[in-house]
Amino acid sequence: MQDGAGPDAPSGSPAWWQAGAIYQIYPRSFQDSNGDGVGDLAGISARLDYLAELGVDAVWISPVYPSPMADFGYDVSDYCSIGPRFGTLADFDAMLAAAHARNLKVILDYVPNHSSDRHPWFEQSRSSRDNPKRDWYVWRDGKPGGEPPSNWLSEFGGPAWTRDETTNQWYYHAYLPSQPDLNWRNPQVRQAMLDVLRFWLDRGVDGFRVDAIHHLFEDEALRDNPANPDWRPGMSPARRVVRVHTMDQPEVQDVVAAMRRVADAYGGRVLIGEAYLPIPRMMAYYGRPDAPGFQLPFNFHLLSAPWTPAAIAALIGEYEAALPFGAWPNWVLGNHDRSRLASRIGPAQARVAAMLLLTLRGTPTIYQGEEIGMVDVQIPPALVKDPWERRVPGLGLGRDPVRTPMPWKCGPKGGFTTGEPWLPLGPAGTGITVAGQERDPRSLLALYRALLRLRRTEPALSVGSIGNVRASGSVLSYQRQLGARTLLVALNLGNEPQTRTLHGAGGRLLLSSTLDGPVGHHVDDALRLGPNEGAVVAF
Ligand code: NOJ
Repeated sequence: MQDGAGPDAPSGSPAWWQAGAIYQIYPRSFQDSNGDGVGDLAGISARLDYLAELGVDAVWISPVYPSPMADFGYDVSDYCSIGPRFGTLADFDAMLAAAHARNLKVILDYVPNHSSDRHPWFEQSRSSRDNPKRDWYVWRDGKPGGEPPSNWLSEFGGPAWTRDETTNQWYYHAYLPSQPDLNWRNPQVRQAMLDVLRFWLDRGVDGFRVDAIHHLFEDEALRDNPANPDWRPGMSPARRVVRVHTMDQPEVQDVVAAMRRVADAYGGRVLIGEAYLPIPRMMAYYGRPDAPGFQLPFNFHLLSAPWTPAAIAALIGEYEAALPFGAWPNWVLGNHDRSRLASRIGPAQARVAAMLLLTLRGTPTIYQGEEIGMVDVQIPPALVKDPWERRVPGLGLGRDPVRTPMPWKCGPKGGFTTGEPWLPLGPAGTGITVAGQERDPRSLLALYRALLRLRRTEPALSVGSIGNVRASGSVLSYQRQLGARTLLVALNLGNEPQTRTLHGAGGRLLLSSTLDGPVGHHVDDALRLGPNEGAVVAF
């Protein structure tokens, strides 16, 4: 990457979703208010002060719609209501108002690719071949001999086609058989689903995280996917084929642009797209100048990048260079589908990672619990809930370990519930609790708070350009710049002390990830970093 590369701060004042930080709430596991062991909207309302104090600007809430919970909310049976286990529409409105009163934006999860098989649309669709809703889903005849229409595979194991007895046809589902794919080639589906966006925008939500967008269309001719020569036993069975005909089809961009037009009609709203794609393909989801797409197609590449300065520097360079003109970057270190950060890279590096996430150019998304260093919790087989683990056991694909309830304080229920938590909280006494870390001025939670504060006081961090991205030994460093203000971020990804030579008159230490040494002191020509330490220096 060229020194100083990356567009300058957006002209005019930056949008909230550019300068701000997003916090993902996995509602089933955030805070229960009624003792049923499952988190709910009133629980979220009760914890808004915690989020405001943390210093985030927006919350994205995973689905809270009515759902049979086959995929824990990503199987929606009514897009325009709240599931009773989460509360009521009145609870939602109260939560939204309370969030807004604290200057917190609210982003909902929107699941356009598939509904629940219990959605009335699908119940009608499957009832007869000539039902008016038949074409709202993807129905096809099987091949002779009772074979499915193509070799397409479900993400969660098994074929992506299920034969329905009633009409002796097959329906397509990228995920579970109980998550039939909507047919976005049908204009009525498109209209109905865009109306869902309007329903929530009218209520005042600030945007959507759009689920599984790359799955929205499949090849109309139903061509088989080719075999994947790289598949090995132990990998997800869905990867036995390369999904050339079932993912990232060209028609999707037109729908993304239509979603964006709906959101833009309201002003100040954001659309964030979920698509696990290589960088060049991901860029298409920003849309084109004449047909803008998502403001933020999620950038998941830090989830899988090797944790080395060279790999991360290369990733930053590749990503920044690929961004279309005017496109805004974003970064993610964890979510409800992926192994937790502190389990992937260890607790010491989790502090360095926090500094990376909150000082890179682009909107950061923090996954609930990341700020206290939650780790994957091993779930005994008898307690497994995730349908993926149940259908494809033993390969480590299950997502329960990363979805365990927030430990607000010590104890088996952790202040999360008074009832029986739907997933266990993990071994007590690990010290990973909000209450424990609130008392410790050097905790990871304290570091997240300090970093989020620093982003507010230093616009160079939130909206400045990035340059001089360097990997040198175990140190990753880069500069952030806005106008005359230049900051250096230096991160020691190793466990030996390192020295980073500074040129010129040196600078002033703004923050160390240890929260240990005196900040504000002058750093002359050498910045000394302890093991696993990161620092931000101002010039
Ligand atoms: C992506 C979501 O993040 C995941 O949790 C879900 O299972 C699938 N999409 C299907 O909706």
